[in-house]
Parts: sequence; C-alpha cells; structure tokens
Amino acid sequence: MDGNGRWAQRQGLKRTEGHAAGEEALVDTAYGALALGVEVLTCYAFSTENWVRPVDEVRFLMNFNESLLKRRMHELNEDGVRIVFSGRRDWRVPRRVLSNMREAEELTRRNKKMIFNMAFNYGGRAEIVDAVKRLIEDGVPASKVTEKAIAQRLYHPEIPDPDLVLRPSGEHRISNYLLWEIAYSELVFDDVLWPDFRREHLYAAIEEYQRRERRFGGLES
Ligand code: IPE
Ligand code: MG
Repeated sequence: MDGNGRWAQRQGLKRTEGHAAGEEALVDTAYGALALGVEVLTCYAFSTENWVRPVDEVRFLMNFNESLLKRRMHELNEDGVRIVFSGRRDWRVPRRVLSNMREAEELTRRNKKMIFNMAFNYGGRAEIVDAVKRLIEDGVPASKVTEKAIAQRLYHPEIPDPDLVLRPSGEHRISNYLLWEIAYSELVFDDVLWPDFRREHLYAAIEEYQRRERRFGGLES
C-alpha cells in the first residue's frame, strides 16, 4: 500500500489523514479479493524501514493499525477470513498492538475462505535473516541448507509464493517486500495512490496477470 502521503498532500491534508483514508481502500480490496476467490492476500502495512519516519507518524500508524484491526476483525471473522501477520514481533512494536495481533490470529484461526496476511514490521531481508537464524538454532549442517530448508523457516511457510505483486502509487520498486517469495511472481504497477485504490484496480491487475506467460525459467509451453 503506497501513496497515502502524496494523496494527502495533494488535497492539502496531513499525511496521517492519507493513512486514515487508506482504510476504505484496504477493506474494499480485501472484500474484492474474497469475492473473487483469491486464496491469500498479503498487504504491506509497515516496513522494518518505516521506523525512521517522524515519531508522530510512526505513533499514528501503530495506533491506526491497532484500531483498524479492532474495528474490522470481527466482520472479517464472520466472513471466513483468517488474519495472520508477517514481520518481526520485536520490542519496537507496542505491547498492546502485539496482543491485538495475537487476538485477531486466535479469533480467526479456523477460517478457510481467505488468508489476509498483514506484513507489519516486515522486511524481506529481515525475514531471510530470521530464517537463517532458525536454521542455525535447529542445528542444520551446511550440507543440508537447501532452498526448501530456508523456505520452511520463513514467517509463513504454509503460504504459497505470490502469483502477483501489485504496487500502486507509480513507484517501480520492490522496497524489501517478500524478497524470497517473489522470485517468480508477476509484477504489476499502477499509478493510483493507495487511498483511491478499489477492487477494480485489483481486478485490472489480475487481468494483466492473466495475459502474462509464466515460464519459471523454462521455455514456452
Ligand atoms: C504508504 O503510504 C503507507 C505506509 C508506508 C505506512 P506512504 O506513507 O508511503 O505515502 P507516500 O509514499 O509518502 O505518498
Ligand atoms: Mg511511500
């Protein structure tokens, strides 16, 4: 999710008002994905690099993510959505936010319709580092270090690699997102700023995805 700050600036609003306006985009996209039968939707809510932003903005984002979760988890639960999180649960994340995250995971853990994965305090490199730490803790010898051994130690080994990565806001970069998992994902970029994003943008990206030919390093079939 990107472009909240620029969206706000364009309307003469504070950056934080752009984040707040992003909630409708998130909810509409999640329900759009659910309606379409998407199995997993992962959204990048806060990166391990976002901590360098002004303290007021970081504080707003922590409180906002917590209140969004509190306000939406019951509705998502009733609609069969399983909420999970990818990212570091370290000392930087306020304790009440962590307990809220655990509550949402616990509440929705039996749901089967869609996995809604929030990448929160997430970094792709950090995820790989954490997986390597686990390899070492597990006493895996060098000869047994394989792609599978690493993949099994990512934050959610049960979640398949994404077919499609969609970035809004006109930026053409990955910004440390799911580095391991996107090795063969199709990338789609859209100029729309996140608060204006709606399910139709997701549908257009899926149509674009359907026109791509995936070869995974092989030849055309
Ligand atoms: C995305 O919007 C939200 C987060 C990264 C938390 P930005 O805050 O990055 O908005 P821009 O890129 O400054 O417009
Ligand atoms: Mg940005």
